[in-house]
Amino acid sequence: MSASMIVEAADYIRERTGPAPRMALVLGSGLGGLAEEIEDPVIIPYGEIPHFPASTAPGHAGRLVYGGLAGKKVLVMQGRFHYYEGHPMERIAFPVRTFKALGVERLFLTNAAGGVDIGFVPGDFMVITDHINLTGQNPLIGPNDDALGSRFFDMTKAYDPGLADLARQAGKDLGLELRQGVYAWFTGPSFETPAEIRMARVLGANAVGMSTVPEVIAAVHCGLKVLGISCITNLAAGILDQPISGDEVLEISARRRPEFSALVRRIVELGA
Ligand code: HPA
Repeated sequence: MSASMIVEAADYIRERTGPAPRMALVLGSGLGGLAEEIEDPVIIPYGEIPHFPASTAPGHAGRLVYGGLAGKKVLVMQGRFHYYEGHPMERIAFPVRTFKALGVERLFLTNAAGGVDIGFVPGDFMVITDHINLTGQNPLIGPNDDALGSRFFDMTKAYDPGLADLARQAGKDLGLELRQGVYAWFTGPSFETPAEIRMARVLGANAVGMSTVPEVIAAVHCGLKVLGISCITNLAAGILDQPISGDEVLEISARRRPEFSALVRRIVELGA
C-alpha cells in the first residue's frame, strides 16, 4: 500500500474530525463499547475511509470514532483487523500509518487475551511490557518506505516504558491491581493447543492472543509510542480442564467493561 494511499485516508479523516489528537486507541474484542462513551462523536465507518479494510471479527464494530474522552480528544478504532480474517499484513498496518500521517503520537492498543501465567485470573488487566511473535509473519516484509521509518529498526522498547508507568499510575489511582507481562502472538483463529501454551510459557509469555503485535511493529517502525493492555478473559488452553470459547472471551471482557472503561479514561486523562 503506497504512501499516497495513506495520505488519502488521512485527508478523508482530517476533513471530518479536525486536528489529530495526541492519542489514538484501538479497542479489542468485547472492549469496543467504550467508543459509545465518546462525547460529541464523529463516527466514520471503516468502509467509507479510502483503502481502509473492513472488520469481520465478532465483537468488532468496524468504525472510527473521534471525540472527547476524559476531557481530551481521541481517535478510537472500534474494532480492529486480524490476520486470521485474511487481511494481508500490510493492510493491518495501514490504520496505524494513517494515524501517524494524521499527527498522532501515541497508540494505545487493547485486546482480549488468554492467561498463560498460572497466577492470572479471568478479568485481570495486564500491561504489556514486551511481545513474542510466534507467527513467522511481519507487516514490514516487502519494500520499505524510508519516509515512514528505517528498513531495520529497534524493538528494544517497543512498549514505551513511560506509557506503561502512566498505566500503572492510572491503575493505582483507581485501586485496580494491574498485572504486567509478555504477550505472545499466535495467528488464530483456532485457540492454541495445551502443548503450544506450555511452549509459550517456557518461552516467557504471560498471555497469548491473536492481535496487537502487527500493529505494534508498524507503530514502532513509524515512530509512534505504544501502550498495550490485555484483558485476560480466560486461562489459556490446558490450564483448566475445560474448553475455551469465543463466547467466554466476549462475556468476560463485557463483564469487565466498567473497570476497563475507568482505566482507559484515567490513562487518557493522564496521557492523551
Ligand atoms: N488464546 C488466544 N487468543 C485469545 C485467548 C486465548 O486463549 N483468549 C482471548 N483471546
